[in-house]
Amino acid sequence: MLAATLSCLPLAVAIAGSPATAVHPDRWPSAHWPFPADPALEHKVAGLIAKMTVEEKVGQLIQADILSVTPDDVRKYHLGAILAGGNSKPGGALTADAKQWLALSDAFYRAAMDRHDGRPAIPLLFGIDAVHGHNNTVGATLFPQNSALGNARDPELIRQIGAATAAEVRATGINWTFAPTIAVPQDVRWGRSYEGYSQDPKLVAEYSRAMVEGLQGRVGTPQFLDNAHVIATAKHFLGDGGTKDGKDQGDAEISEQQLIDIHAAGYPPAIDAGVQTIMASFSSWNGVKMHGNKALLTDVLKQRMDFQGLLVGDWNAHGQIPGCSNTDCPIAYNAGMDMLMAPDSWKGLYEHTLAEVKSGTIPMARLDDAVARILRVKFRAGLFTAGLPSAQPLARHPDRVIGSPAHRALARRAVRESLVLLKNNGGLLPLDPRKRILVAGEGADNISRQCGGWTLTWQGTGLNNKDFPGAQSIGAGIVAQVKAAGGHAEIATDGHYTHKPDVAVVVFGEDPYAEFQGDLPNLLYRPGDDHDLELIRQLKAQGIPVVAVFLSGRPLWVNREINAADAFVAAWLPGSEGEGVADVLLRTRDGRIAHDFHGRLAYAWPRTALPGQAPPQFPLGYGLRYADHATLPPLPEVSGIHGEQVSVGNYLERGKPAHGYTASLVGADGDLVSADVSSATTGDHSLRMSAIDFHAQEDSRRLAWTSARARFTVQARSPLDLDRQTNGDVLLVTTLRVDALPGADAWVGLGCGHGCQGRVSLGPTLAGLPQGQWKRVGVPLKCFRAAGADMHHIDRPFELGAGAGTALTVFRVALGTDADQVVRCPR
Ligand code: BGC
Ligand code: BGC
Repeated sequence: MLAATLSCLPLAVAIAGSPATAVHPDRWPSAHWPFPADPALEHKVAGLIAKMTVEEKVGQLIQADILSVTPDDVRKYHLGAILAGGNSKPGGALTADAKQWLALSDAFYRAAMDRHDGRPAIPLLFGIDAVHGHNNTVGATLFPQNSALGNARDPELIRQIGAATAAEVRATGINWTFAPTIAVPQDVRWGRSYEGYSQDPKLVAEYSRAMVEGLQGRVGTPQFLDNAHVIATAKHFLGDGGTKDGKDQGDAEISEQQLIDIHAAGYPPAIDAGVQTIMASFSSWNGVKMHGNKALLTDVLKQRMDFQGLLVGDWNAHGQIPGCSNTDCPIAYNAGMDMLMAPDSWKGLYEHTLAEVKSGTIPMARLDDAVARILRVKFRAGLFTAGLPSAQPLARHPDRVIGSPAHRALARRAVRESLVLLKNNGGLLPLDPRKRILVAGEGADNISRQCGGWTLTWQGTGLNNKDFPGAQSIGAGIVAQVKAAGGHAEIATDGHYTHKPDVAVVVFGEDPYAEFQGDLPNLLYRPGDDHDLELIRQLKAQGIPVVAVFLSGRPLWVNREINAADAFVAAWLPGSEGEGVADVLLRTRDGRIAHDFHGRLAYAWPRTALPGQAPPQFPLGYGLRYADHATLPPLPEVSGIHGEQVSVGNYLERGKPAHGYTASLVGADGDLVSADVSSATTGDHSLRMSAIDFHAQEDSRRLAWTSARARFTVQARSPLDLDRQTNGDVLLVTTLRVDALPGADAWVGLGCGHGCQGRVSLGPTLAGLPQGQWKRVGVPLKCFRAAGADMHHIDRPFELGAGAGTALTVFRVALGTDADQVVRCPR
């Protein structure tokens, strides 16, 4: 219904019709665009626009991802911008270093500046998510994630981090970062909470200005957007941190006043600081998608708040507006979007947009306004005169800039400032480095876990310490300082020491995640898996005092772990400089305290696992100092959550269906037998399942086919909506072993109700795998969509079939982004 309304009525009317989405621009804060009128700039912009064809103008409005666009495409379509998404690296590699980025930047620069066709040369904007340092580059300094930085309450530190990040980005030839995120997360079940500085709008507002000034330089100084700075992006406008239940890309069901008071807080300071771009949010406000909300984008942001920069869209987010698709969305441009991010959909979007400009659906004046905004940003950033990316000053010696000692020292200081001490009973901390110290827990020597998502890969998964040259794990930092002071330290993740230690530091916490992959139904930390708690308790039972160091993007309910340990440190996601933790936890060799705790909670710490329970366990601003000598009494150990949680992303765990799912064998005759057991055979003997040991006894299932018509299937108790995951390039990952493969007819499928399914052939992929070895085989969810699955209603999230004589053993089936082999979608 809404789709039809929106596409045939002027948008303002549709919105004004509903009181919940009525907008009153005069109630919003104003801001001041800090650039004086500049006739010379306007002259250049107008001159260029006068020379451009309508095709060239439309090209400026589109941003394509480097995995789906070539320099030749840029030359031909005169695109305005490219981006490298979280999983997009030069040549499709898993990770990239400065040299590879520079080569890619040069190739695209040359294409954009090529004047062979006699057309005006317009330099490209090249955007990347440098959100905690230049995190898509091997060897870069990885700063603590934003939820950690909030605790430091130090805008000057943020400014310096911005400047250091900008320099590292410029050293790779890239000119634009999609940062800072100035969301004000109100429900930390939201997986992106760690990208926000604080739940407190005041703190976000201070940091917003500081980060924009750090990245771009200060307006009115010679440093502003010089060749050591980058274009910043304030994101995501608006209400990304206010969605119901903390759902990513969800709906903020709140009043206009809450939108103003809480979520808009960071925008006026960013605009006052001259932020050149703002990214619209995937989310909705009271049911209306932000990318189509003209009242907020144009009347509030561009008019009331005087934002004269360029308003860019998020990853195919325009396609979610009713009446739009990824390749067609005049509504968004007409609502005020200047550039749309169309990673893999750019060509279709270009063609439709061009047709819509020609037919007048998108007015020429709107097109010219968008182009002018884009060109002004390019002029202000000096891109017309900057020259070849690799020839620019910082890019000539990227190794002197990227991961430089000065940047690493700054990051290490940021780690020290952002740690928050929640408990220190008996004054266990600071530790004497001359003692015997054990560093245990899965986070003890795991740089990827310290860094979280948006680290080398989109999700920050699939990495090991070798991927982080120059970085240091928390455990390695402690060992280094203890050794230097004459003590003994060892790392043993499982807690099995060689000599009984005087004290143990247990480092543990969340696995990395990004965007909706991190959304939670409640604030339980690893429901159903208590091995970190048990490790702390075991060490304590041996009479060893324990310091718990918790790595997480957000506060979670860990009262049991806090009770079990003598001291508890919230370390958030500290990034590459793990030694910053040792700096604060350890005394100096001569017994001094070199660095006290400094952090004060920028997010309140919950009392139960139910969100929003007041009062919190530890309020905003809480954080102990060494001089506090406070004893924390035992905390209540009632989580408030009953029953197990159903996961949308895990289907088969250790050979068994995950909670909320059942498994069956379907015979060639169509009859079903339960496979929620160790072994089973269909009545017609077409498929036989038996238990096999992989990591543990009977933790996997061997499936042996005698008919290609039989299949193994996992059913969900209620249908799953996997649409978001599909847009985000998520894979269905099966951990399997090929035991026998006589033919190439194996397939994996999703079921979506009667007669609805999508099957993808596994034949060629499995044929390429070594037999008898465990491998993770990933199938992009979009392949299932292309094969006919309705991703909104998946009731069978996994089906597996194969020809007679095939035997496959399956250990795990889950959504993920990391696999040994990724199946190519058939075209
Ligand atoms: C995210 C943005 C990000 C963009 C490009 C989107 O999915 O929401 O924050 O800048 O992708 O990677
Ligand atoms: C992310 C991109 C990422 C992509 C993976 C998007 O949702 O924002 O940065 O590369 O998914 O396909």
